[in-house]
Amino acid sequence: MGYAVEISGVTKKFKDKVAADNVSLKVVKGDVFGLIGPNGAGKTTTAMMITTVLTPTNGNMSVFGEDVARRGVEAKRKVGVVFQECLLDDELSVKDNLEVHGYIYGLSGEKGNQRASEALRLVGLEKESKALTRNLSGGMKKRLEIARSMLHNPDLIILDEPTLGLDPLMKKNIWEHVKMLSRKGKTVLLTTNNMSEAEELCNRVAFINNGKVIAEGSVADLKKKVKAKSLEEAFLRLAK
Ligand SMILES: Nc1ncnc2c1ncn2[C@@H]1O[C@H](COP(=O)(O)OP(=O)(O)OP(=O)(O)O)[C@@H](O)[C@H]1O
Ligand SMILES: [Mg+2]
Repeated sequence: MGYAVEISGVTKKFKDKVAADNVSLKVVKGDVFGLIGPNGAGKTTTAMMITTVLTPTNGNMSVFGEDVARRGVEAKRKVGVVFQECLLDDELSVKDNLEVHGYIYGLSGEKGNQRASEALRLVGLEKESKALTRNLSGGMKKRLEIARSMLHNPDLIILDEPTLGLDPLMKKNIWEHVKMLSRKGKTVLLTTNNMSEAEELCNRVAFINNGKVIAEGSVADLKKKVKAKSLEEAFLRLAK
């Protein structure tokens, strides 16, 4: 079976704080995988290590078979990421935000322009193309960030808390985008502490608490394991 992500015995320490504690996970190609856990559980830290933003203290990671430590550049090219905090340039137009990012991945000129237009169409922001990014709503910015993460046509998209702080309509809208990515054959790794989001989107999930993976499996299996009616109930039982 091909894995999009393999994490094996990964620990990340910030001085005395163990943010990720011997984490092992496998994400199957084509899955929508949810990394679920409360605030401070280690979700963002894990996402940052997969995308080479942070270096693990210990352990190994690979992305589509590329070792993240030894072949970081190759691994990173296969990944698009939307971090929890907005990383757009507020002073640029919507389209320029995409083109500047595309340039970093070697997409310039007509090709860059074309890919930026396609990405905007995909997230329904073609009318806002010339708007100043600072004037977009929070949900629109999130969609722009998703468009940006897809510019270099990565096979894996990592979404760190994609709907945090969004209204129910915008949340639904982002969920549709995640489903669209999945239909296009992309692997999606999302972090969330929203259990209904995980139930709606994910084939498989891992529960993480205090930096440790405490359970992993399909949503149905995890519920069955502890005789829970919902994923939330399963998490609360397993996290005790
Ligand atoms: N740069 C850092 N320096 C020191 N401690 C850090 C750093 N980054 C994260 N931590 C700590 O590591 C732990 C895990 O943080 P992380 O951001 O990964 O959690 P999270 O699961 O993403 O939480 P949230 O749901 O609030 O986004 C927390 O205790 C956090 O305070
Ligand atoms: Mg986080």
